[in-house]
Amino acid sequence: MTPKLNVNIDHVATIREARKTIEPSIITAAVMCEQAGANGITVHLRGDRRHIQDRDIELLRDVVTTYLNVEMTASNEMVGIALETKPDAVSLVPENPNEVTTEGGLDVTGNFDVIRNAVVDLKAAGIFVSIFVDPASDQIEAAHRAGAQQIELCTAEYAELTLSARAAHGEGERRAAVEVERIRKASETAQKLGLIVAAGHGLTYRNVGPLAAIPQITEFNIGHNIISRAVFVGLGQAVREMIEAIRLGSGNRA
Ligand code: PXP
Repeated sequence: MTPKLNVNIDHVATIREARKTIEPSIITAAVMCEQAGANGITVHLRGDRRHIQDRDIELLRDVVTTYLNVEMTASNEMVGIALETKPDAVSLVPENPNEVTTEGGLDVTGNFDVIRNAVVDLKAAGIFVSIFVDPASDQIEAAHRAGAQQIELCTAEYAELTLSARAAHGEGERRAAVEVERIRKASETAQKLGLIVAAGHGLTYRNVGPLAAIPQITEFNIGHNIISRAVFVGLGQAVREMIEAIRLGSGNRA
C-alpha cells in the first residue's frame, strides 16, 4: 500500500505569526491539503507558540475531517491540551527552546516515566499515540514499553545528507544509502514489536523516494518542503506533487 501523507502546516502559521495577523488561514490550508488528497494534517504546538496557537488546535479539531495529528512534548500542560481538544493522534517529540526545528528523536530511555505516564493518559482518552524517535533499537523498544502504538522515525540525518546536489553525490550518496539502511532496519525492528511505522523530518520531493520504498513505513509527516513549494505552485499542487513522489517511490517496495 502507498504510504499516507500527513501535511504539516506549521509554516502557514509561521507566516501569519510574522505579522501577528489573521492570514494566511491555517484552516483554509488544512481544507486545501485535504482536498488535494492528503490523508491527514499535522501541527506542532510548541511551548513558545512560535507558529501554531492553542486556538488553532481547537479550530482544526472542528474542521479537519481526515486525521488530526498534534506534535507536542510530554509535559503536563501539553497533555492537558490534548485531553481537552482530543486530536486523533498525538506525536510526542522533544523540544529545545533555542532550536530552529526539532533536532532529533525523543530520548525515551532517559525520560521513560514521564513519557509512559503521558502515553497512558492520552490512550485512556482514546487518542492514538506516536513517539518520534531516532532510528535506534533501544529507543524503539523503549517507545514500545511505554505503550506507544506507533513510532515516527526521525529522518533528519538522512535529510541532511541529501539536502543539496553536492551532498547527494560521491561520499554523501554513500552515507545517505547507509542511513536508508539504518532506517530500514529500525522499521523492521518496530514492525516486529507490533508498532506502526511513520517517518518524517526534512523530507522533500527529491529524497522521499528511497524511504517510500521501505515496506514497513506506512505514513509520512512532511511540512517545510511542501509549504515552500506551495509559494510557487499553490498548496493543492504542492500536496499533489508530494503524493506522487511518495507513490513513485513506493513502487520500488520489495
Ligand atoms: N515529524 C516531526 C516529529 C516533526 O517535529 C516535524 C517538524 O515539525 C516534521 C515531521 C516535519 O518536518 P519538516 O517540516 O522538515 O517536513
